[in-house]
Amino acid sequence: MSELVTLKTFLGTWAGGDAGRTAIADTVTAIARAGVGIADLVARGPLEEGLASIRGTDPNAGGDAQKELDVVAEERILDALKPTPTAFLASEESETLIPVNADGRLVVAVDPLDGSSNIDTNVSVGTIYSIMPYDPAVNTDPATAVMRPGSNQVAAGFLAYGPATILVATFGEGTQVFVHDRQTGEFVLARTDVEIPAETKEYGVNQSNMRHWHEPMRRYVEDCLAGKDGPRAKDFNMRWVGSMVADAFRIFTRGGVYVYTGDKRKGYENGRLRLIYEAFPLAFLVEQAKGAATDGKTRILDIEPTHIHQRIPLVFGSRAEVEKIASYY
Ligand code: AHG
Ligand code: MN
Ligand code: MN
Ligand code: MN
Repeated sequence: MSELVTLKTFLGTWAGGDAGRTAIADTVTAIARAGVGIADLVARGPLEEGLASIRGTDPNAGGDAQKELDVVAEERILDALKPTPTAFLASEESETLIPVNADGRLVVAVDPLDGSSNIDTNVSVGTIYSIMPYDPAVNTDPATAVMRPGSNQVAAGFLAYGPATILVATFGEGTQVFVHDRQTGEFVLARTDVEIPAETKEYGVNQSNMRHWHEPMRRYVEDCLAGKDGPRAKDFNMRWVGSMVADAFRIFTRGGVYVYTGDKRKGYENGRLRLIYEAFPLAFLVEQAKGAATDGKTRILDIEPTHIHQRIPLVFGSRAEVEKIASYY
């Protein structure tokens, strides 16, 4: 059997003694370690009382009710980042940037717990991260440190806490999948240069929102539903976990598209997903795996954020299908 490559050895090789890369490697290592702790908590399920209970009465800055595990996951990540060169942390669960290290040179954005509605259902949830360089000389107002197009990311990834705890990561040189080995405690490289098939017959969408959709989205799904005899001339399958990390991992494994567009509901004009800590990292990972990510038309990584918690319509996955969806808009 060939020698196993751990996250540690992979990052050691990638960083190659370069200070900037070592900073990024240390930060990703810290997030992965926090993820193992979160996975342990998730795995205790109902034995760990109250993980899915609503914390307090106020929603988070993005308007979601905060569950106990949302907050605990954020605390774990923040703690893990303290010894790393992270200057600021942006998080779904905190209204403003959290200062971490005064001399840090990275800004990290996280969705500490993706898939909150699945916490108490024994379905995969996860953690999403995005890393950008931080230069106090350029970002004189730290509040705007993460408000730059996603093309500035130097690393991004997500952990999914499912039957296996996996880490899907990019450092701008392809997308890699690591699996946490519970016997050794190490993340082991399982797939390198992940490639999302360009064509697919599988889409992921919350179809219960159909009555709220705008015309292009409705027509796209209707054409998929029409199957072999319809305009798409093929039978489609539908999958929707309700945790983007789980839907994304399926797409990294066998292709497909994930779609959450804006709709007519109040507050859902730009869909449900957040640009900075959900769409940017997913788009970076997907493009590095030869897929595509748009807001329907525009490349996600080119979008200039206007607000730390802003939402964005999100379409990502198999390139040809993402382009097909754009043709409906
Ligand atoms: P979060 O739990 O971090 O707020 O994100 C939930 C997101 C995403 O994970 C998922 O794909 C989507 O919301 C599900 O939305 P619906 O419940 O509307 O299907
Ligand atoms: Mn939420
Ligand atoms: Mn999320
Ligand atoms: Mn979340």
